[in-house]
Amino acid sequence: MIRPILRYGAPVLHRGATEVQELTVATQGLLDDMIETMYAASGVGLAAPQIGAEQRLFVADASSGRSVEELFVVINPTIVEADGSQHEEEGCLSLPGFTERVVRYNRVIVEGLNRDGQPLRVEGEGLLARIFQHEIDHLDGSLFVNHLHGIKREVIVRRIRKLRRAGKW
Ligand code: NI
Repeated sequence: MIRPILRYGAPVLHRGATEVQELTVATQGLLDDMIETMYAASGVGLAAPQIGAEQRLFVADASSGRSVEELFVVINPTIVEADGSQHEEEGCLSLPGFTERVVRYNRVIVEGLNRDGQPLRVEGEGLLARIFQHEIDHLDGSLFVNHLHGIKREVIVRRIRKLRRAGKW
């Protein structure tokens, strides 16, 4: 089922999510909804808090649905290795209409569990590394604007405030 994607300002997006203790039927349903919602929105990643679930899991697909092998489901993810840096344009389904260049590691190794509860270790480089870092940020209650400084961040926050006052956010 396609679920509504929460936007910047929704409290659940600004709180940290909690570790998944047990993979239940509900967890599998949540993951299916996240995958469907991500593809419907033409996204490359989606974290559980974005659809209101405060659980540490995300889905990612750098191909945005063009190639099935590129779909990753990671439960309780942690970055265990990171190196290099990249400075690329980034957006977020919870911040529609806004993009900005963000500094990220160029390569990361993420460990967690797959949807069968088996240990998972995945390496991402470039875009995939960026998606992993972006989604894990969501699980920590952080959005890409938190990586921006000064005026760049102010401009976005002010425009969102204005949209919200106009009932358009
Ligand atoms: Ni996002």
